Amino acid sequence: MTEDFTDKVALVTGGGSGIGRATALRLARGGAIVTVLGRRAVGLEETAALGDGRIHTATADVRDFAAVQQVIDGIVERYGRLDLLVNNAAGNFVTPAEELSPNGWKAVVDIVLNGTFHCTSAAARHMLDHGGSILNVIASYAWHGHPGTVHSAAAKAGVLAMTRTLAVEWAARGVRINCIAPGPTETEGASAALWPTDVDRARVLSSVPANRFTTPEEVAESAAFLLGDRAGYITGEVLTVDGGQWLGKAVYTDSRASAR
Ligand code: HXC
Repeated sequence: MTEDFTDKVALVTGGGSGIGRATALRLARGGAIVTVLGRRAVGLEETAALGDGRIHTATADVRDFAAVQQVIDGIVERYGRLDLLVNNAAGNFVTPAEELSPNGWKAVVDIVLNGTFHCTSAAARHMLDHGGSILNVIASYAWHGHPGTVHSAAAKAGVLAMTRTLAVEWAARGVRINCIAPGPTETEGASAALWPTDVDRARVLSSVPANRFTTPEEVAESAAFLLGDRAGYITGEVLTVDGGQWLGKAVYTDSRASAR
């Protein structure tokens, strides 16, 4: 059994690469008509070219509410509805908090937290009339924190709180909203931002009990589950897809009982 998205209308932000691209392709394969939104046309067009005519592109910055609203209103005008929204657009770089400039903080918080609210708010204006499903991509450091990611962790924690709040506000209107928290995923963006060198990469890998990175396609399968009807009674939840990474953080484990 697999998720069927026949004739569902979907928007995926950050759909020009990585998890956003894989999720857009998964939804399109399931029968959805998908728009991928992002800042750079090139990546979006590459995604669309893989989508068998079911994927369209929209260039906009999620930090710009008016631009996002225009894209979403345009989708509803063209297809009559919007059923699925994936807030995947993110910005990130690792830096000690004391070296983070106010503008660096603002850039990441604007993309992740404000951008998610902008898209969610503009989509809800339509979804609250006929139902819908929203998925926000976060990271487990939203709840456990992580050195070097104060801007991203704070923003993702805000998205988690937003998700839980809106889940309750909108449940009776037929709108579900959930989070997915992927662990280390083999994408160009994550590699460049989070494990730029071989040494970093080996260190990250050693933190994953499953002893491997995940792939955008594997994350997209979990995303499809949460977006689809099989998850129809799930709202305000987080699905962590990290090979056990965050649960394995405790340092007082007896070495004989650890995964490796
Ligand atoms: C320190 C940095 C920096 C860095 C940018 N800044 N990169 N500071 N170290 N590596 C600072 C700049 O100096 C500037 O501050 C401010 O941030 C804004 O930078 P701009 O380049 O002008 O902003 P902008 O073009 O809007 O770019 C936003 C960005 C960029 C977040 C900085 O990296 C971006 O757009 N990234 C998108 C793709 C991405 O990051 N993907 C990774 C997602 S992976 P000053 O003070 O100098 O003006 C991910 C996974 C998390 O999120 C989960 C893992 C498990």
